[in-house]
Amino acid sequence: MSSTNRGKERNKFDYYVTPQKDIINFLKVFKGNHNELNNIENVLDPCAGGDKDNDMSYPEAIKKVFPVWNIETLDIRMDSKANFKGVNYLDTDISKILPDYNADIIFTNPPFNLAMDFVKKAMCDVSENGYVIMLLRLNFLGSKDRNIWLRNNMPYEIYVHSKRMSFTKDGGTDSVEYAHFVWKKGYKGITRLHLLEFK
Ligand SMILES: C[S@@+](CC[C@H](N)C(=O)[O-])C[C@H]1O[C@@H](n2cnc3c(N)ncnc32)[C@H](O)[C@@H]1O
Repeated sequence: MSSTNRGKERNKFDYYVTPQKDIINFLKVFKGNHNELNNIENVLDPCAGGDKDNDMSYPEAIKKVFPVWNIETLDIRMDSKANFKGVNYLDTDISKILPDYNADIIFTNPPFNLAMDFVKKAMCDVSENGYVIMLLRLNFLGSKDRNIWLRNNMPYEIYVHSKRMSFTKDGGTDSVEYAHFVWKKGYKGITRLHLLEFK
């Protein structure tokens, strides 16, 4: 594939690289709040990213904080570093590609335009009492389209990245706040809000 076509494919699939330091910042605080994470076995990143110049951000960050977790990865792009490439998560029955696999956590930064679909499917795929953790814009909490679903499926926790995240090599930011939203399958209740340290 030529570099121009590779660039077009990246835009089409909303590919950008999440800084590992921000994922690690979140994971360390999340770990401090959840003793049960020591019993986690399987983590799925359903749009794991990576390319010839970049590692897959979430799997690499997870390995640094939870080295024993078993991480499975897939991505729709053929130039991704995922174990399963060319896979559209939204129409894939995970049991067909990973028989006898139960994801305790589904954890990623999904493509922006498909974020709601990713959250809904992940909530179906994750184990009972498991976690779905997605990096989303704070305004994911607004919008008429998401309102009914969100009110019936409130996140368990939200960890706000108080310092704006940068997704560009020059460290530039736009005026968008991001947070790691944590859903716990089976949980019905109010959301605990955490502000991550400004660093
Ligand atoms: C915002 S990027 C995030 C990449 C990586 N998770 C990270 O945080 O650096 C979104 C990723 O989703 C992938 N993607 C887009 N649509 C997808 C789909 N339907 N199924 C699986 N992967 C998809 C893209 O190829 C891209 O790698």
